[in-house]
Amino acid sequence: MNEILIDTSAGVMTITLNRVEKKNSITSAMYAAMADALAQAQADDDVRAVVLQGHETIFSAGNDIGDFLTAPPSTPDAPVFRFMRGISTFPKPLLAAVCGPAVGIGTTLLFHCDLVYAGDNAAFSMPFVNLGLCPEAASSYLAPQLMGYGRAAEALLLGEPFMAEAALEMGLISRIVPPAEAAALAQRQAQKLAAKPISALIETKRLMKKGQASLVAERIGEEGASFGRMLHEPAAREAFTAFMEKRKPDFSKV
Ligand code: COA
Repeated sequence: MNEILIDTSAGVMTITLNRVEKKNSITSAMYAAMADALAQAQADDDVRAVVLQGHETIFSAGNDIGDFLTAPPSTPDAPVFRFMRGISTFPKPLLAAVCGPAVGIGTTLLFHCDLVYAGDNAAFSMPFVNLGLCPEAASSYLAPQLMGYGRAAEALLLGEPFMAEAALEMGLISRIVPPAEAAALAQRQAQKLAAKPISALIETKRLMKKGQASLVAERIGEEGASFGRMLHEPAAREAFTAFMEKRKPDFSKV
């Protein structure tokens, strides 16, 4: 079955994570499909907004941990980095509908979305440290900026989850709705945007993001270099192996 579904209608491209049995964890092939879809959406004048969504019960459990073990990204052109560059520089409106857990990149990709509609069951987390890793997708820059350092430290150092109310208060998401309504709301808002003059949308988004655009690009590169190195280090190998073996990691020797 196709693990990334892409549907374009009435000016809106919808990208759906469709790997629910593995909690919508994202493989290299899935990142590649999403990066390609974003590039196509950027180039196609008939696409005026993009919606990213998962399932009513799970947005995404983050990177596929088995992939981290067997095929870690090794160059800046790896699909995961292409996807990060794609969402962080996407010029047209980017929306997300988020329900259930949003882990790792499931949360960090939201820092790059313009409008996020969350189910009241949404739970956001960035447990990179717990996996022996560091933040990615410029979240080491964007999380402290959005949340304040204190809450960012709880989220990024302790890896503690935060819920939809907290995400709304800090401005990471735009509205909280019952899970069954999140995807439909995102579609309605995307269609409203698709009816507006695209040049005005693109210029407005560019101006809103201008202050941070180069800092975000630079941070994605710096994080990527550290992340790529840390994937091979003992702490991360122990965390991934423990996850695959369904046991608690033992960091006493790393
Ligand atoms: N990579 C690979 N497989 C994953 C996965 C991931 N990130 N997250 C979940 N899965 C798989 C599980 O191994 C399990 O597979 P199995 O049925 O073959 O045993 C299946 O998805 C269901 O996961 P499970 O943990 O049983 O579901 P849950 O409802 O109890 O918990 C989560 C859901 C999202 C809280 C939990 O799966 C989780 O914490 N996942 C890891 C998150 C993570 O650390 N991601 C990396 C961030 S960088």
